[in-house]
Amino acid sequence: PAPGWTVSSDIVLIGSGIAGLVAALRCRSHGRVLLVTKALLDEGSTRWAQGGIAAALAPDDSPADHLADTLAAGVGLCDEDAVRTLVTEGPAAVRRLIELGAEFDRADGGDIALTREGGHHRRRIAHAGGDATGAEISRALLAALKQANIEVIENALVLDLVEDDSGRAAGVTLHVMGEGQPGGVGAVRARAVVLATGGLGQAFSATTNPEVSTGDGVALALRAGAAVTDLEFVQFHPTVLWLGEGARGQQPLISEAVRGEGAHLVDHAGERFMLGRHELAELAPRDVVAKGIMNRMRETGASHMLLDGRHLGARMWEHRFPTILAACRHHGIDPVTERIPIVPAAHYSSGGVRTDLSGRTSVPGLYACGEVACTGVHGANRLASNSLLEGLVFAERIAAALPADLAAAPRPGTFRALPGGGLIDPRARGDIQRIMSAHAGVLRDAAGLAAADRELRALAATDAVEPGVDAWEATNLHAVATAIVAAARRREETRGSHWREDFPDRNDAAWAGHLVTRAAGGTF
Ligand code: SIN
Repeated sequence: PAPGWTVSSDIVLIGSGIAGLVAALRCRSHGRVLLVTKALLDEGSTRWAQGGIAAALAPDDSPADHLADTLAAGVGLCDEDAVRTLVTEGPAAVRRLIELGAEFDRADGGDIALTREGGHHRRRIAHAGGDATGAEISRALLAALKQANIEVIENALVLDLVEDDSGRAAGVTLHVMGEGQPGGVGAVRARAVVLATGGLGQAFSATTNPEVSTGDGVALALRAGAAVTDLEFVQFHPTVLWLGEGARGQQPLISEAVRGEGAHLVDHAGERFMLGRHELAELAPRDVVAKGIMNRMRETGASHMLLDGRHLGARMWEHRFPTILAACRHHGIDPVTERIPIVPAAHYSSGGVRTDLSGRTSVPGLYACGEVACTGVHGANRLASNSLLEGLVFAERIAAALPADLAAAPRPGTFRALPGGGLIDPRARGDIQRIMSAHAGVLRDAAGLAAADRELRALAATDAVEPGVDAWEATNLHAVATAIVAAARRREETRGSHWREDFPDRNDAAWAGHLVTRAAGGTF
């Protein structure tokens, strides 16, 4: 629909997780800043983050060690410059986050307490509130945002990019609901657009992601013709609380930090099946652990595996993992006395909108940071707790680059909203999730992916569907699902979180490069 109202800003930021909030705070000296968020300010993924934020903060650690662990987890597909930037700038960025008000847990001597997670050879994960790191970061950043008086529009689903006639990003269209705000479909005009819209876990039936993670930024970027890359690398978190067959929607996460503090993965006979599969056993990179769990489930015919943290003791559970303890008890499991049933679930998109080291996408004036972006730091499999760090570091880098970019940008030409297409019936959301979990989940093969492609095509968009938030979300989910399946079909090897049963080996001769998607299901 045509925009019914227009507001103007210099920089519009879409999303209110760590990336969007930090970018907004750091950009406010560069002009008028408007932050747009799809639901309420704290409803994105950041507030659900448990384990923490990784940075080489300990005296026995170094950016070089963090670099080595990140590259190993990324299985040959990380951009080494991007990773070096991340790990080198990370420690100071975390200190600046503390200056902004985030309070991390402290060890007895007052230093930041650090834990381990999968793939890390050092203790380098800072955490807050035990296992509520994202909630604390979100609290601190929202307080800073309020104090900085940054203009915000909540309950605003971003629809499409607005460009000027030179093809430069010049704003967005959006749909706003709620009192005291402009309502319906409108447009924001701006000289720079920063996407920080988070992930796409809702493309799958069971995910750790909240309801709002419907791939809106990736779908917008695809429609705008921006390069999107590495979409086949959807990461499945190894340990999500198993709530029975057919559990759907957001599932309770059991942080890797529980294994970092010593919990073991066992099968129903009590055997630690990760021993002997990797030198780090339960603390191997998460793709290795997810595959270990899936293999053992297959070997034993079990619907789930078990996480045994009984030996951590009640005090550890209560002080270090209060959120997880409460979630488990809510579902009738007491981790102090019982083993926790777990299963892998969709967790994180390592790919996204391709950017350079300053968050610039292939469309001039369009930037991306956080999960929606593919900066190159994750490769085929993100290292645990590198996501909050990536959002933080690259949001700051966008803010640092913007003044010079805006000064060099041509004066805006005539604006034009990108043509809208048909919409997917909102009732198809469940079908998309079922198709993706059945055929494009942890285990993939040619026949399943072909079936996914066929079934997704059968859910074609039509002009008969009434516009509305549910229809736009279904349309975005369909676009990202189609693009994920296309990339997963194309990559005929197993690497990182992309596990092809029909091509079980890594194949560097053929597949050491990246797949770039330029339109949903389009050419590479
Ligand atoms: C966790 O706490 O296990 C999640 C950490 C992450 O996804 O990086």
